[in-house]
Amino acid sequence: MKATQTRNFAGVLAQIKPEAERLIAQYPQKQSALLPILHAFQNVEGWVSPEALATTGELLGLPLSVIESTASFYTLFFRRPVGRYVLQVCRNLSCQLRGAEEMMAYFREKLNVRHLETTYDGTFSYEEVECLAACDRAPCMQVNLEFVYDLTREKIDEMLRAMEGGTFETKPLPQSAKPDATWSIGQEAPKKSPGAQGVSNPNEPGGLDPSGEKTILRLVADPRIIESRPSAERLVRDGGALLERGAEDSWPS
Ligand code: FES
Repeated sequence: MKATQTRNFAGVLAQIKPEAERLIAQYPQKQSALLPILHAFQNVEGWVSPEALATTGELLGLPLSVIESTASFYTLFFRRPVGRYVLQVCRNLSCQLRGAEEMMAYFREKLNVRHLETTYDGTFSYEEVECLAACDRAPCMQVNLEFVYDLTREKIDEMLRAMEGGTFETKPLPQSAKPDATWSIGQEAPKKSPGAQGVSNPNEPGGLDPSGEKTILRLVADPRIIESRPSAERLVRDGGALLERGAEDSWPS
């Protein structure tokens, strides 16, 4: 059964609604409450579910695409169920210089997980993240979005023990649904835009017609296209004219 089917979203919504209304009333423009409302859902459910995204859109009068793009931009929002403790270890330069590599290896070995994986019992989700802006206390990490500084192996041992024993200072996340092995959301729409299909190298122009030949033939067959889409096609038209001139110049008469 899918995670989203096992929970009672109506109950979640009943819990969130007064808080969401309070947040909305706080801003001159209700759209400004977007991030706090997403946080409110995550605080109750442990993640931001598709229902939470849709409901946030309805509450704020924003299209789902805006809500989705905001939630997916921030790594602070978990868009799939996660463990009770989300461990996000910084992997950037300052932390690397102060032993982050060793800390990450230690986490992976101790918890038997890799980047973006959740332990089998659903207690820990583990992620290696970009700079957390606490470089002066490197190596560092966040646990359920709260900072832990100056990591050492001993500190990690102590911390994990406290989490397992329920005595860690940062509260565990609620778990409205059992996490999968990973909460990473891959490429949900494998189809890229026509211009990017089949192009793996970002330096390649790509496109369905990289040489422009097909487009030129299409324009020759139906020149009205130029009038209907002047800005996009004019370049091609001018390019076609240049090609023709070049061909005339180079052909012996
Ligand atoms: S490099 Fe780790 S916090 Fe900046």
